[in-house]
Amino acid sequence: MQFKLSTSAAIAAAWAPVLASALAPSLAAKPPAEPIYRREEGNNQGSYTFSQMTTVRYATPLSSSPPVTTYMPSASMKAIMPSGVHTTTWAKNSNASDWKNPYGQAEWNRRWAPFMPNVTISTASISTTVQPTPVPSTSLILPPDSGFSYSNENAKNLDFPKGFIFGAASSANQIEGAIQDEGRTPSVLDYFNLDSANAPDYIASWNYYLYKEDIARLAALGVPYYSFSISWTRILPFAGTGTPVNQEGIDHYNDVINTCLEYGVKPMVTMVHADEPYEFVMDGGNVQRAYLSLNSGAANVTFVDSFVYYARILLAHYGDRVPIWITINEPYYESGNLLGMYNFIEAHNQVYDLYKSMGGRGMVSYKNADNFGVPLDPKNQSDIDAANRYQDYLLGIMSNPTWLGKDVPESVTSTCTNESHPLTAAQLARYKGKSDFYAIDPYTAAFITQPPGGIEACAKDPSNPLWPSCTVSLSISDNNWEIGFYSNDYPYMTPTYFRAFMNYIWDTYRPPAIMVTEFGFPVWMEAEAPLASQQNDLPRSLYYEAYLTEILNCIHEDSVNIIGAVGWSMLDNWEFGTYDQHFGMQVVNQTTLERTYKRSFFDFVNFFHSHGL
Ligand SMILES: *[C@@H]1O[C@H](CO)[C@@H](O)[C@H](O)[C@H]1NC(C)=O
Ligand SMILES: *[C@@H]1O[C@H](CO)[C@@H](O)[C@H](O)[C@H]1NC(C)=O
Ligand SMILES: *[C@@H]1O[C@H](CO)[C@@H](O)[C@H](O)[C@H]1NC(C)=O
Ligand SMILES: *[C@@H]1O[C@H](CO)[C@@H](O)[C@H](O)[C@H]1NC(C)=O
Ligand SMILES: *[C@@H]1O[C@H](CO)[C@@H](O)[C@H](O)[C@H]1NC(C)=O
Ligand SMILES: *[C@@H]1O[C@H](CO)[C@@H](O)[C@H](O)[C@H]1NC(C)=O
Repeated sequence: MQFKLSTSAAIAAAWAPVLASALAPSLAAKPPAEPIYRREEGNNQGSYTFSQMTTVRYATPLSSSPPVTTYMPSASMKAIMPSGVHTTTWAKNSNASDWKNPYGQAEWNRRWAPFMPNVTISTASISTTVQPTPVPSTSLILPPDSGFSYSNENAKNLDFPKGFIFGAASSANQIEGAIQDEGRTPSVLDYFNLDSANAPDYIASWNYYLYKEDIARLAALGVPYYSFSISWTRILPFAGTGTPVNQEGIDHYNDVINTCLEYGVKPMVTMVHADEPYEFVMDGGNVQRAYLSLNSGAANVTFVDSFVYYARILLAHYGDRVPIWITINEPYYESGNLLGMYNFIEAHNQVYDLYKSMGGRGMVSYKNADNFGVPLDPKNQSDIDAANRYQDYLLGIMSNPTWLGKDVPESVTSTCTNESHPLTAAQLARYKGKSDFYAIDPYTAAFITQPPGGIEACAKDPSNPLWPSCTVSLSISDNNWEIGFYSNDYPYMTPTYFRAFMNYIWDTYRPPAIMVTEFGFPVWMEAEAPLASQQNDLPRSLYYEAYLTEILNCIHEDSVNIIGAVGWSMLDNWEFGTYDQHFGMQVVNQTTLERTYKRSFFDFVNFFHSHGL
């Protein structure tokens, strides 16, 4: 921009005092007496010496023989096992005509028939459990200081409480691969990309055979908790109540849990993580989407009893060694519709009551999803209403009964009228308080506003694509700034809103404790980078450092009882149709299946060590 000088004497006269006062301070300022860049006489200018800028430090491994605690008496484990259960095995690529047996090999083959003959289920070259090799010390050198620190400014002197839980998470369908091996039948996720160009889950991280190595790598880095999920269809290929148990599935997870304990890693086990048996939608169900989310068959009338039967089998085999059970992962995203949600509430509660009545001494919860909805304009009541409605759907459907003993939010029941029914007083009394902590996966935040035409009109119109939640979710604020630093997927780096989210949960649902059961950040285009650059994943480190700092602030400044933080994910994995959304704290080479620690994994663990743990 150019300024035009006016030649008018009148204007110059009018401006003279203003200009004089504006210029006066700088004219009056004196130059500094001594330039500060001069070194003292005798300083060795002309002979610069380099010094060591980094030191080689190694990760601190876990101690491998910690005391073993028993979380369920063996008599209870016997009593919890349903009677008359038959245990057997099945094989893939096996001809059979035992059609008279509803759970025979022929019926097992039929579960896979939609894949055949057009779909080849690829496998990796390894087909037996690999014994772990010790992690070489050269892989355990801490990354150099990044030069950035969020916590130095914000929480330098704050410590995590003693016993604070930290670890890394995964889920069966996203890491295991080997989907047709050792008796497993399809889950809804195996069908999710059957006819699409997206990458299938056939190999994933091939953890089904490499789990020992994966657990050894957690221990070598000093990660005390490992959160993983069990594949329902490996345990019960025919899913439902009374169906036979797969011995190979039982043995597999038995060894996963024992390997954890052997290495001093505490298992945190999710019973079902998005991979419900295909059985529940086999007769005409559409796995793609119902109106709430992915249809996992939760609305099937057999679902609740089947889930409780499955949970009994798990507790009968593993109840003694698992300190933390998650019944259901992010129910909202797996429910399909409101009927599925009602079934999830009931199924979770039956399993919770069963566990406690059998003397289970561990903790039980389900995990809530996902983003925090903040009003686009926090001063505008209609944006506040929209944000509350957003939370009603994501959190309230399960959280109202669980924490408040209250019915599903009115914003849900008055919209999904054809499926809603009031929960009875007896149900509400039974549901209240049936979770030991509030489990939340708070990856990110989003701005929420009303749909064009308003919520009310949308709520009456099931053909509106925003129905039934009828809220608009935005990543750009009304002053045109993105909500946080962008990633390769939906999460933005939003530490500013994280603390507000924890306070929202604390104030709204008043749980005794909150655990952050998943959080993570897929760095933009990481999959395209060379290995050394994938390893040096500074944005992910900053994400974890910022969020963990806010957890410390929640604990110390707000007195919110946060008891744990589990990062997603233990390693790069199959993110529902792609391998390119790298959420992992380890790289997985999709050809060699070799694992490499990223700097974020070291920084994540180190954060806890430098804050009192
Ligand atoms: C199954 O039977 C068919 C037809 O008899 C045969 O071609 C095929 O090789 C058999 N497969 C196996 C795995 O035995
Ligand atoms: C396999 O593909 C053929 C040709 O596209 C199709 O006619 C057939 O129905 C497919 N079979 C299955 C089991 O999907
Ligand atoms: C519901 O689940 C049962 C198995 O428990 C299955 O036999 C039935 O076909 C499923 N219903 C539908 C509509 O898929
Ligand atoms: C408040 O937000 C709504 C959308 O949620 C918008 O239509 C309305 O104009 C806003 N009101 C004010 C005063 O900004
Ligand atoms: C309830 O209504 C919604 C919206 O029209 C529809 O998608 C859903 O299938 C209905 N549920 C039942 C059980 O009919
Ligand atoms: C995976 O490993 C192979 C063999 O070492 C190598 O050629 C390839 O570049 C690696 N892939 C990536 C993405 O690093």
